[in-house]
Amino acid sequence: MVMGDLPESTDILVIGGGPGGYVAALRAAALGKNVTLASDGKLGGICLHYGCIPSKTLIHAANFLEDAKHSEEMGITTKTKLDLKKLRSWKQGVLDKLEGGINALCKARKVNVIKGKAEFETPNRAVVQTENGRKSIEFTKAIIATGSKATEIQGFPFSHKRVWNARKALEVAEVPGKLAVIGAGYIGLELGVMYAKLGSKVTMLEAGSEFMPKAEPETRKAVQKRLAELGIELMLGSKAEGFTERNKTLKVKTDAKELEADYVLVAVGMKPYTEGLKLENATLSTDERGFIVTNDSMQTRLPHVYAVGDVRAGPFLAHKAYAEGKVAAEHACGLNSVFQAQVIPSVIFCDPEIASVGMTEKEAIEKELNVKSAKFSFHASGRAQSMNSPEGFIKVVADEKNVIHGIEIVGRGASELIGEAVLAIEMGATAEDIALSIHAHPTLSESLMEATENFLGKGVHSYSK
Ligand code: NAI
Repeated sequence: MVMGDLPESTDILVIGGGPGGYVAALRAAALGKNVTLASDGKLGGICLHYGCIPSKTLIHAANFLEDAKHSEEMGITTKTKLDLKKLRSWKQGVLDKLEGGINALCKARKVNVIKGKAEFETPNRAVVQTENGRKSIEFTKAIIATGSKATEIQGFPFSHKRVWNARKALEVAEVPGKLAVIGAGYIGLELGVMYAKLGSKVTMLEAGSEFMPKAEPETRKAVQKRLAELGIELMLGSKAEGFTERNKTLKVKTDAKELEADYVLVAVGMKPYTEGLKLENATLSTDERGFIVTNDSMQTRLPHVYAVGDVRAGPFLAHKAYAEGKVAAEHACGLNSVFQAQVIPSVIFCDPEIASVGMTEKEAIEKELNVKSAKFSFHASGRAQSMNSPEGFIKVVADEKNVIHGIEIVGRGASELIGEAVLAIEMGATAEDIALSIHAHPTLSESLMEATENFLGKGVHSYSK
């Protein structure tokens, strides 16, 4: 501590203003605690400013453009023109509104927000490097929510102007003529498809012999078909080794062939971010993968220090961080809160959308569950046809007692439909529970009912000998 620098004190110090951190701060403040939230970036974190929200905003616009280009069969002929400046300012407007909402909530809940990077000085004191100097904060409890960072690979430094990470790609400074995407995971698929729809010729390099290895095989097939339709080349089993640059054109070397690109988007995963936090001063450390280990109430080895979100093992998903932030805040406020979710859904907002929850058929069989599966195709859905989006299906995996273990949804609206599937698995629902619940007609949600009816051998809108 600097001489003369009197520390402030707080009941709960939250470090990091992303989905894990700001939700923890709001929940703890709602429970009556004095909360300080230290964040070196804008509230909302990567999710709101450089990840989930800008990507979904731009993907929505790209889908709109693509739909407009193909509306002739509905009798609508349009001339489309992309104004990137307007697109960027529309995206920024969305982010600003949501950030304004979080700032207003923090104000209303009297969360003391301090802008700056925090580091531990002792297990009960941190210092925040603010614009106006260092601020010492004594805390009774702390919640670490410092998130994650994009992984860099050798030969493709993010410092290079033509090497993008997701954050850079979401600036949409331009639509490259040719875009090489390294990694066909969440980000590669979402942003690769988005740029293809905005007009880029996209090539995806995936190191694995398969992409989306955890998905159902028919899901991969549906995505592969659509990528081909969008003119995206997917190179499986291809590792990018580096590039040379000449006249703004990159020659990307792979172990198979060389390809030309204007920009390269590197999307090969994320890693937990604890740099500069000085965990050691709090007598804490990370595991060999860089995660902070906690129990199910999010407590680290020190019972008064919690960790939530991407710094804690598990999928790098904002909705996991939200849930963990609430558990940590409640536990820190004396409630007996534990992370008890059976399942965490995942959604890839590519085309078609892919949403899944629970186990795939293969995973369930590997766990020695006696499962079988059934599908319902959106081709047989009145709503999907009326929306001109008949591609895709819902697959239900359930056991001999008809208890549902997994649901995968592929197609337009999958991201919204998965909510019912999550509830079903959390509640231990059987196929009958869904099949006997009347779903409104005509909706996409009926298709989940139809898939479970097919599972029970009662479906009327599908036929197989
Ligand atoms: P990812 O883990 O989803 O996919 C990375 C892909 O890159 C894998 O298929 C991997 O085999 C491949 N790869 C690794 N090294 C490679 C190399 N040297 N050359 C070629 N391919 C290589 O990671 P991604 O896409 O970066 O996303 C990070 C995380 O962010 C995701 O795991 C997800 O949790 C989260 N995310 C979630 C979204 C959502 O919920 N819709 C959207 C975007 C990201």
